[in-house]
Amino acid sequence: MKQQQQQQQQQTVLLGVTGSIAAYKACELLRLLQKAGLRVKVALTEHAQELVGAATFRALSGEPVATSLFDSPGNPINHISLAEEASVLVIAPCTANVLNKLASGVADDLLTTTALATTAPLVLAPAMNARMLRHPRTQASLELLEAAGATLVGPGEGYLACGEEDSGRMSSPEDVCAATLEVLARTQSLAGKRVLITAGPTREYLDPVRFISSPSSGKTGFALAREAAARGASVVLVSGPTDLTSPPGVEYVPVVTARQMLEAASEHFDTCDLAIFSAAVADFRPAEQASQKLKKGASLPSVVPDNDPATVSPAGASLASVASGTASASYSLTLTANPDILATLAARRAATGAKRPYLVGFAAETEDLLSNAREKLKAKGADLIVANDVSDPALGFASSHNQLSFVSKEGSSQTAVLSKEHLARHILDTLTPELC
Ligand code: C5P
Repeated sequence: MKQQQQQQQQQTVLLGVTGSIAAYKACELLRLLQKAGLRVKVALTEHAQELVGAATFRALSGEPVATSLFDSPGNPINHISLAEEASVLVIAPCTANVLNKLASGVADDLLTTTALATTAPLVLAPAMNARMLRHPRTQASLELLEAAGATLVGPGEGYLACGEEDSGRMSSPEDVCAATLEVLARTQSLAGKRVLITAGPTREYLDPVRFISSPSSGKTGFALAREAAARGASVVLVSGPTDLTSPPGVEYVPVVTARQMLEAASEHFDTCDLAIFSAAVADFRPAEQASQKLKKGASLPSVVPDNDPATVSPAGASLASVASGTASASYSLTLTANPDILATLAARRAATGAKRPYLVGFAAETEDLLSNAREKLKAKGADLIVANDVSDPALGFASSHNQLSFVSKEGSSQTAVLSKEHLARHILDTLTPELC
């Protein structure tokens, strides 16, 4: 009974061991995880058992060791029990074979089936020959797994089992243990917090098939939503149209236009602890929307009166188009300002005198990054502006990498060029002390 209670309080590490010579390092890792107060259960692939036997891991862990989908007669769906029991799945060492299988969603043995069935965070310590590591397929898998939220530890450089000194060596058990503890600590860092995130572009239709938008992919906002949910927050993700799938466990509110985004964000705003406005909202929309597709040569919808303060000068927003045939035609499009979602909701917070939600805005700039960000911080009433330079085509918008500057009343700092998943972690690491 006492042992059962203890197990319930303890977090469980499911340690997957695959068929790399480095499998012996998993024994030391198991010990370190236990010393950190964790319960460790081990799952071995068929090839791992050729290197270190199940009996060793059984003796070290004090738990039954899972070796195949059908080795637990009392529990024919052991992979599901293991998947549910795990607070974290650590695969160390992780061979090229298992790494590539995980990236492809292949589930053909106990370990890969459990990996597909679990919602626990994944820590991978790759170990393989350097050429296998450099293979484009392996590199693509590493990138994909990281983008899906896996924590990669190593591989490092050094002496490999094939006799070469190169990269592909499994990281030390100490490093893998430290990364695992960090991941476990993170899983609860936003427990009980409510987070609102806006993401993606908005579309402002001119007629049923044409719209004003931006190349925003939504990747940063979706990565933030995934990361916040993985840290225990309850997350509402309000997003314009993207190709992305909402992360599991996140309340997803799809919208199209800026006005719809404001309405959805407004509904959740007051109950949130943190609101991150990462959407690339279109600042303008056509003053009128045609109900049928506009034809070449046809006149555009009538203009809004010039005395409307929200109207943007038609001169600044003229669409020139060449009609077919001999005559050429130019069209003028009248735009009207969209609501600024961040500024509107920040003003609402200011009016109530509330300190929450903590407000984060984004700024995509092509020049004077920091001074524009500082101005935005003040003008919009945000607590933090996350700014990035979009003049570099390799970064920002549709790229998977970015470099960010954080600007608040206290000062500014800059990240390195990182994947958007890393940046999401970095942003939430920065924000967590503000919330707790
Ligand atoms: O003014 P600018 O578009 O550069 O400001 C960017 C920040 O303001 C982002 O956080 C963006 O999500 C937010 N924004 C908004 N509503 C708008 C325009 C921008 O919430 N209409």
